[in-house]
Amino acid sequence: MVTTVENLHETIIKDWPFSVKAVGLEANIIREILKISSRPGLINFAGGLPAPELFPIDDLKAAAVRAIEKHGAETLQYSLSQGILPLREAIAHRMSAHVHMDFTPDIIQITSGSQQGLDLVGRAFLNSGDYVLTERPTYLGALQAFNFYQCRYCTAELESDGMNIAEAEEKIRRHNPKLIYVVPNFQNPAGITTSGEKREALVHLSRKYQIPIIDDNPYGELRYSGERQPSLKELGGNAVIQLGTFSKIVSPGLRIGFIAACPEVMTTIERVKQSTDLHSSTFDQWVLLEYINSGKLDSTHIPLLRDEYGKRRDTMIEAMERAFPPDVTFTRPEGGLFLWVRVPSKLSASAALNNAVEAGVAYVPGKPFYPHGDNDNCVRLNFCNATHEKIKEGIRRLAEVFRSLI
Ligand SMILES: Cc1ncc(COP(=O)(O)O)c(C=O)c1O
Repeated sequence: MVTTVENLHETIIKDWPFSVKAVGLEANIIREILKISSRPGLINFAGGLPAPELFPIDDLKAAAVRAIEKHGAETLQYSLSQGILPLREAIAHRMSAHVHMDFTPDIIQITSGSQQGLDLVGRAFLNSGDYVLTERPTYLGALQAFNFYQCRYCTAELESDGMNIAEAEEKIRRHNPKLIYVVPNFQNPAGITTSGEKREALVHLSRKYQIPIIDDNPYGELRYSGERQPSLKELGGNAVIQLGTFSKIVSPGLRIGFIAACPEVMTTIERVKQSTDLHSSTFDQWVLLEYINSGKLDSTHIPLLRDEYGKRRDTMIEAMERAFPPDVTFTRPEGGLFLWVRVPSKLSASAALNNAVEAGVAYVPGKPFYPHGDNDNCVRLNFCNATHEKIKEGIRRLAEVFRSLI
């Protein structure tokens, strides 16, 4: 049969032969919740979205014009899989300042966001059936990225100062994981920061059992209070593969992140990057470079984000202290985007989401952040995306929902 405009949509392939890996992927609940967030009047604490009104639009526009004017066709051409050299130099320079050790551009791989960094790590290291040790709860997007490689998880409880180290060691002995995955700064979802002591203990475990640590660090530069902790990389050196991103400090739409790893790892990472998408957007890399080189990211933009996000965190915490029932508890993060609410065990946070959406407020139930889905009494709230007025009103609505259900 010849395909014509009329029969174009007829079912020709009746049973699409999808791969087992693709069929095994579950929809990301946050992306699903984003779909309902367009409901009129809904106050959305669910997504991981930074505040759009704080994007440096004029400065990025100027950076885009400068990039084209200065570098012309080069900005629109294919480029190195590892990423354009001047951007890797700029990132190495910024990392050297933040991580307190010398970074060189040859150990930086540009990625299309940290999410791709996670995928490349999965491609490079994980075989079907391998174990990954994670915090419990952990970043849902990492689980999704690693799930594609059909790995399994062993977990250690995330306490108020980081992973339970005794439990981590016990799980390492029992399951011999390939990787240790952590978000040590202002963790997504729980907002917890790993203490210096536990960072040292993690590095000790990594050395003792010869397991690389994946340090996923999108929020490290967004600290609003408390003391800087030493980075895992400066404590653990080559054993630590660090992921970074400009999504939360510039714009997630740029999709520019990076992996910093030792040369032995970098060769493989560069190859898997090449096989995935050849390279990240050349144009976006030049625009970001121009923006970084303008000096505004470090001199004005990040200080602005720290100031405003810190205030929004305080607004949300004050509102929760006033309105939440006493048996609903929550974390008080020192930075990042998220805080973590614990409801009494008789209340299912997943089921309560329907009531919350009816009341005009959305959150992400905590369950999908548990690799084994074994806790439904937690809620993740983004405190950065809504204005102060909406934060107060949203928390008032949420408190009413909790009160009515408890
Ligand atoms: C811990 C963590 N890792 C990675 C990502 C992905 O970020 P990106 O936008 O750079 O892909 C996020 C985004 O929320 C995150 O919270």
